[in-house]
Amino acid sequence: MPRAKTILAIETSCDETALALVRCSGGLRAPKFVVEKSLISSQIAIHRPFGGVVPNLAKREHLKNLPKLFKRIGGSAVMKKIDAIAVTVGPGLEPALWTGITFAQELAKKYDKPLIGANHMEGHLYSALLPMQKPTAHGPLPTRSIKFPAIALVVSGGHTILLRMTAMNKWTVLGETLDDAAGEAFDKVARIIGLPYPGGPEIQKIAATGDPNAIKFPRPMLNKKNYEFSFSGLKTSVLYYLRDNPKANKANVAASFQEAAVDVLNKKTKRAAEEYKAKTIILCGGVSANKPLQERLRTTADELRAHFIVPDFHYNTDNAAMIAAAAYLRTAAKKKKLRMEAQGMLSL
Ligand code: KG4
Ligand code: ZN
Repeated sequence: MPRAKTILAIETSCDETALALVRCSGGLRAPKFVVEKSLISSQIAIHRPFGGVVPNLAKREHLKNLPKLFKRIGGSAVMKKIDAIAVTVGPGLEPALWTGITFAQELAKKYDKPLIGANHMEGHLYSALLPMQKPTAHGPLPTRSIKFPAIALVVSGGHTILLRMTAMNKWTVLGETLDDAAGEAFDKVARIIGLPYPGGPEIQKIAATGDPNAIKFPRPMLNKKNYEFSFSGLKTSVLYYLRDNPKANKANVAASFQEAAVDVLNKKTKRAAEEYKAKTIILCGGVSANKPLQERLRTTADELRAHFIVPDFHYNTDNAAMIAAAAYLRTAAKKKKLRMEAQGMLSL
């Protein structure tokens, strides 16, 4: 059994500054994570007037927030009990990534600790293993373990990826988006409807009062026998619909758009889970916070008698606990170390 490690993790790839202290054990076979602290400082209010994330503003905020969060998580005192520091090196906004990397390098030097680079998307994937914070309506706290083969749908503001996992550290990409990511589509459609950034939660909120069958928006790529996605045509359909129907009920537009996006994401994931006889379906990344998407995939998993995992709300969107998990499992898998520099386009 590999030795337990306490990791201080740092995440600054986009508009959340996050630090976490996570006790990691069990190695690749039975990983277990105890999140001692997970702090997130959101910059939403700062970027909102611009309708999206402004990289240089994000950088400025991270520089301001990192020392504050470090103090809140325990400062120098906490450095005595940690075994390593983990930091996101990509993918993400490079000016933002550099702030975390530089901060981590300084801590590593000052306190003489090893530094591990982590992939943000591996973080989202492994967020499926982070502990649940409270019991759900679906019964007692499930153990966060993945039975293989597994199908993972990783949906965030920058990515839409369908993965087939055959082991904790072995996967193949079945398909990705050819244009906009799912979260990007939520954000852009929200802007078209006149809702603030970030659009995902806003669309979900207003959609709850609308009719998802009011407007028949297209289901891009659904009839293609591959696992690729495309959301830019769907976004354009919403744009044209509102141009032609300026008095349309916004809640109906939001609900019908959300229904189209959820339908495509669910059906493609279902097809992959059937084809590869998945024992687990994982939903992760920022868009995994979407309740209708969670419900649809949970039903699919029940139908296929597969285990369904979606991270707790705190771990759906960007956080640092997932970065500790990614760093720990990368080390346990003896994967090649990631270069300690901002890698904006790093892939899974
Ligand atoms: O993973 P994340 O926090 O950051 C990236 O790595 O991109 O994902 C952010 C994305 C945004 O596009 C946001 O609109 C979307 O996740 N999102 C949602 C919801 N909450 C966040 N999309 C749909 N429904 C939600 N409830
Ligand atoms: Zn993310």
